[in-house]
Amino acid sequence: MRMVDIIEKKKEGLELSGEEINFAVQGYVSGEIPDYQMSALLMAVYFRGMSRRETADLTMAYVNSGDRADLSKIRGIKVDKHSSGGVGDKISLIVIPLMAVLGVPVAKMSGRGLGHTGGTIDKLESIPGFKTELSPAAFIGNVNRYKMAIVSQSANLTPGDKKTYALRDVTATVDSIPLIASSIMSKKIASGADALVLDVKVGSGAFMKTLDEARQLAETMVQIGKDTGIKTVAVITNMDQPLGHQVGNFNEVQEAVEVLKGKGAEDEVAVALSIASHMAVLGGAFDTFEAAHAKLRKILDSGAALDKFAEFIEIQGGDASFIKSGEAVRKAKHDIAVKSDSEGYVTAIMAELIGKGAMLLGAGRKKKEDSIDYSAGITILKKIGDKVEKGDTLCILHTNLDDWTGAEQTVKSAYTVDRNAPEKIKYIYDVVR
Ligand code: URA
Repeated sequence: MRMVDIIEKKKEGLELSGEEINFAVQGYVSGEIPDYQMSALLMAVYFRGMSRRETADLTMAYVNSGDRADLSKIRGIKVDKHSSGGVGDKISLIVIPLMAVLGVPVAKMSGRGLGHTGGTIDKLESIPGFKTELSPAAFIGNVNRYKMAIVSQSANLTPGDKKTYALRDVTATVDSIPLIASSIMSKKIASGADALVLDVKVGSGAFMKTLDEARQLAETMVQIGKDTGIKTVAVITNMDQPLGHQVGNFNEVQEAVEVLKGKGAEDEVAVALSIASHMAVLGGAFDTFEAAHAKLRKILDSGAALDKFAEFIEIQGGDASFIKSGEAVRKAKHDIAVKSDSEGYVTAIMAELIGKGAMLLGAGRKKKEDSIDYSAGITILKKIGDKVEKGDTLCILHTNLDDWTGAEQTVKSAYTVDRNAPEKIKYIYDVVR
């Protein structure tokens, strides 16, 4: 088999066989196939697309390129969730304790943040002492005992995807639905879940800018789930503005605590309860979404999930005392108010620019090797639909850096204030199963 023939075939719009897809992925991981040939194939896929069968084969080629977690010793249906990437998205921190209260095991492998989107591992590591490196035995033991554990993604999980994703980033081939779908699903399959709820974001802060594209991505991932034996439900949710009021690392943890006290922002609670309810049904705790939703709402209001969150932190070596004391154990040196230049209604907040602003304040990484400041971030005071007067504070920047001008400009440019009130936005658009 020759890579040039595979490229030619895809260039002509023909369907690749499973053997050809495996040959390309294995050869690329081993270094026999150079970047320039894989780049050409990716661009051909970008323009020609992939059939359902090819997409499933690509997913499994990525899975088989590295280790696959063996979670067979965990009792019960292991349910995972994944977000296609958002700003202010702390839903994982909320659903892990919620599932533990119900006794649905969550064995989570997560990544770190890059660019304008954050990562669950960074958020949890902002809690003093919290450890995300666990041996496989400790990870499995914790899930069996406490129904919840998280570990940072193993270096050798889906190396085929890892290497290809880095190449896609520099060859303008990220935004291809079969490539995104196989990339996300391969990591979830390799990390050993039995069932999966996908939070597919659509809007200014997401990969998918239109509902149509988001639906296509959701359908493709649900099909991969069906073709590979993972029960999958995708919820399409709004990312036209950051989720909730906090963006950053420790301040997102603090906001998750508010949600777990039953006091969360409307959008955050709506999305968290929807994702958690689908997880609860897939995990066998309820027969219907409605029954799960009603119970989870009660759990939030009762404080039971907050106690579980404190337990989760302690099990993983962290200090949960900030929950009771309310102490901001990570506090930035500067708080800078970003004010409105005009009066009217907030009609748009470009989530991607808020994420970029947070990164410039120190909360995120430009490059993988960069270190991050857990106390940096943004508190969003005004959200879409809110009325503002000239001079009102739209949001507050938190940073330890002494020059925040670039971040301030970026964040300010994210806001649109208009004389006319916008229509009420939907938080959840659709569910694909
Ligand atoms: N997230 C991933 O893991 N892969 C993609 O291709 C896009 C988003």
